[in-house]
Amino acid sequence: MNKRLRIAVMASGKGSNLEVIIDAAQQGKCPVDVAMVLSDRPEAGALDIARRSGIEEVVHLDPKAFPDRASFDAACAERIEATGCEWIVLAGYMRILSSHFVRRFPGRILNIHPSLLPAFPGAHAVEDALAYGVKLTGCTVHLVDEVLDGGPILAQAVVPVHEDDDRDTLHARIQEQEHRLYPETLKRIAEAGFTLEGRLVRWNKPD
Ligand code: GRF
Repeated sequence: MNKRLRIAVMASGKGSNLEVIIDAAQQGKCPVDVAMVLSDRPEAGALDIARRSGIEEVVHLDPKAFPDRASFDAACAERIEATGCEWIVLAGYMRILSSHFVRRFPGRILNIHPSLLPAFPGAHAVEDALAYGVKLTGCTVHLVDEVLDGGPILAQAVVPVHEDDDRDTLHARIQEQEHRLYPETLKRIAEAGFTLEGRLVRWNKPD
């Protein structure tokens, strides 16, 4: 395949995954162009990172300015389509996407989740893994479908849980792996691509 991916990143938080993707792209380590960053939160660190890095389109849309989730998501989708982005990369985007939005970009929305899915889906994956007492957890890059944190798995990395971990220490260790795995997975999509067999991801051989 070997092409550059034009991506829109949606983020609500501090934006460390966005930052590593932008850095990897700028250093020529990851063949993506981050054409747009969109956030639902005006105070998101991700917006500052995007502005500092000179991303073309840096957009904040306020969900409260829309009557419902579907109309907010439709406005996001229109902005994304207008930039010609073919992939949507969720990086700490804390809103559940409507079915309409997901169906508008079939197989073209990625997410990173801080657990080894299907264990610990949802917004409290790190706390839930600690409370359950697992000895290994990790992170998962997956395609987004209409099931929350349930789409086909593209890549995973394993992280050990230490006896004295709290939410912050464990999350920090998971994020080290996220910061390697997300750019690597984007690179693999650009250079090789994949085929879906049901929910199984079969990576193509690179050219
Ligand atoms: C990451 O841990 C990711 O797994 C989860 O949200 C967090 C985002 O972190 N979905 P950041 O804003 O990229 O630093």
